[in-house]
Amino acid sequence: MKALVNTPAGLAVHTVADPFPAPDQALIAVRSFSLNRGELDLLAARTEDWRPGQDIAGVMVEPAADGSGPAAGARVVALAEDSGWAELAAVSTARLAELPDSVDVEQAAALPLAGRAALNTLRIGGNLLGKRVLVTGATGGVGQLQVQLAVLAGAEVTAVGRDEAADLLLKRGARSVVPAVTEAEGLFDLITESVGGETLEAAVTRVAPGGTVVVFGASSRRKAAVNLYDFIGHEGARLVSYLSYADPTPVSADLRTLVDLVATGSLQPPVGFQADWNQVHNALEGLRNRTFHGKAVLTIP
Ligand SMILES: NC(=O)c1ccc[n+]([C@@H]2O[C@H](COP(=O)([O-])OP(=O)(O)OC[C@H]3O[C@@H](n4cnc5c(N)ncnc54)[C@H](OP(=O)(O)O)[C@@H]3O)[C@@H](O)[C@H]2O)c1
Repeated sequence: MKALVNTPAGLAVHTVADPFPAPDQALIAVRSFSLNRGELDLLAARTEDWRPGQDIAGVMVEPAADGSGPAAGARVVALAEDSGWAELAAVSTARLAELPDSVDVEQAAALPLAGRAALNTLRIGGNLLGKRVLVTGATGGVGQLQVQLAVLAGAEVTAVGRDEAADLLLKRGARSVVPAVTEAEGLFDLITESVGGETLEAAVTRVAPGGTVVVFGASSRRKAAVNLYDFIGHEGARLVSYLSYADPTPVSADLRTLVDLVATGSLQPPVGFQADWNQVHNALEGLRNRTFHGKAVLTIP
């Protein structure tokens, strides 16, 4: 089969051996996959024949030998551990979900890692009915999903994003859009923070007493300076980290939640770039240079 392989010479399509699934793994013919910002770092660091790829969607070729998961021919979305940017991928049935008829593989491929992060960062905030939520990095793959899911949960959402993306974020359901956290009015029960540096510092100045700032990204790479005195007026607020690899929520249940919401038209997958997989370098360049809003989805013909 063909697969994207990262070597010292760069990322390229190579011919590699077909995967050999473990008993709990299904073999999936990958039709679409999406990129994640974290993969930019991994591609720079892992150059010895590393096979990237977590977010995939496609068709079941071989069900798992242990009898778990959907039947052959079912369309599925999956969160692979790696090696998903390939014609075939072996994935544990605990990490996939069958797609409803109305959800296409290109939409589904935008969901796994970002959707799971969006769901579970918001869940840290508890019941969001009537709560004020501030989403930083709101134009991103995770951010667009957080805005929509928080609105679905009954929150009043303020999105932080560039002026040019205000229409997009209002369409996603944000009550208001501001270009920086420092421009946001009032205090927030929950702040989801993925930019770092001064954005994280400002988030502490906008969290309500007893509220929560969930730190799940550092897209700017900048460090924040925060100390106890910043919490005066925000007493009892907590800073909580979220790292998906330590997330105990069952992956397949989260994927099912996400695709069901897409199927009912309640959730729009945040697809910002779509192309054939031979355009992967353009997609990575766009992600690096922030030329599109949301996820890059690539299709394997
Ligand atoms: N902890 C976890 O488990 C987990 C899971 C998924 C993602 N993440 C992390 O969460 C962050 C968001 O993920 P994503 O998939 O939504 O990424 P993304 O699609 O690339 O979105 C990045 C967002 O951050 C904004 N941003 C502001 N300053 C930035 C800067 N200096 N560099 C890059 N972006 C900047 C972007 O705004 P513009 O529109 O202006 O570019 C965009 O809204 C990333 O850092 C990612 O690595 C963590």
